[in-house]
Amino acid sequence: MPHESRLTFSSDELLANVPVKRPLIVQGVKCHGGFDADGRYRSPRTLWRVPAIRAWQEQHLRTSPDPLVEIPLDTISPQVPNVAQAKLLLREGIREPMVRQLTEIGIVEGFGAMIRELPVPPLKSFIREDTAGTGLDHLTRGLFEAHARDEAGWSEEGGHRQMWFAARDAALSNPEVAPEIFTNVMMRRGNPPQPMFPELGEPVERLVRFMINVLAIEVYAASTFAWAEEVLSDPAVSDAPEEAAGLVRFIRSDESPHVEYLSTVLSEISARTLITTGGKELSGKHVVDKLIDRAVRMMLHQRLVERPAMVREQIRGAAKVKDVAELLTRFDALATPWNPPERYRDLAPQPATSTGY
Ligand SMILES: [Fe+2]
Ligand SMILES: [Fe+2]
Repeated sequence: MPHESRLTFSSDELLANVPVKRPLIVQGVKCHGGFDADGRYRSPRTLWRVPAIRAWQEQHLRTSPDPLVEIPLDTISPQVPNVAQAKLLLREGIREPMVRQLTEIGIVEGFGAMIRELPVPPLKSFIREDTAGTGLDHLTRGLFEAHARDEAGWSEEGGHRQMWFAARDAALSNPEVAPEIFTNVMMRRGNPPQPMFPELGEPVERLVRFMINVLAIEVYAASTFAWAEEVLSDPAVSDAPEEAAGLVRFIRSDESPHVEYLSTVLSEISARTLITTGGKELSGKHVVDKLIDRAVRMMLHQRLVERPAMVREQIRGAAKVKDVAELLTRFDALATPWNPPERYRDLAPQPATSTGY
């Protein structure tokens, strides 16, 4: 039978690779994925994972009146700096913001390994309805493990962390990387936010919150990665336009199963009834919607307030700038005007509690 009709898969199946003719080697390191007989890049661990996710999505759409859960696309603000601004800085010889951004992306990708440590309470303990043959039922049977390996590498094989650092080092000719970049990323992660649904118990809320935060990071990252590919492919500002942009293109194609499986399992939760620690019922949709709203607020705060301030600070601190005010005027003239949708206009610039996983 066609495998799309199957709903149960083994861990080994969800981790299985499409056969490739040639591996992806980056700076002497074998990375995941590879090239098929036609020279086409094939993302890792997608032989069964992709059709499995599609089958679970179709099942959800057949059995629930609601569409798949998603991060609202109208909340995706433009990248700061945008493509024109990033190129302006690089042309002026100011590489720090680009080096920092690419390093941060690599670090955050590496944090993806943590998803395999995320405890999943027994599904029957907090979900009223059946979960057999769902994506939820496969979180600890391949889905989290595949995600962790894609992001952080696995054994001797490099993943996105290594691929981003390679793209950075190729495009910007092995730049000096300030060690405090890692510390800064760690500091911004902050403490876990206050529980929104204490009646669910911490492990259940943590699971749902974590998956929503990762989905939000993945969805916003898609626009950041498109931005990076566009900047790094320009020979006027990139020292390795083909190699660096190619790597980012491979990474982008690997990300699609992450967004798809997280959206699927969150849809499955949203379509079900959650059980509180006191045995009461709580709508899964209510919990998922509220936590998505909070994740969007945190991401918007980071992108609209924190990041622009950080980029300006980097421009002011860059060694090569002679006239900071003049450069900032040119930088600002290239900005992409954008306002959050009406429902997020109230977004006050207050410190976000956590923007990490
Ligand atoms: Fe990634
Ligand atoms: Fe990802």
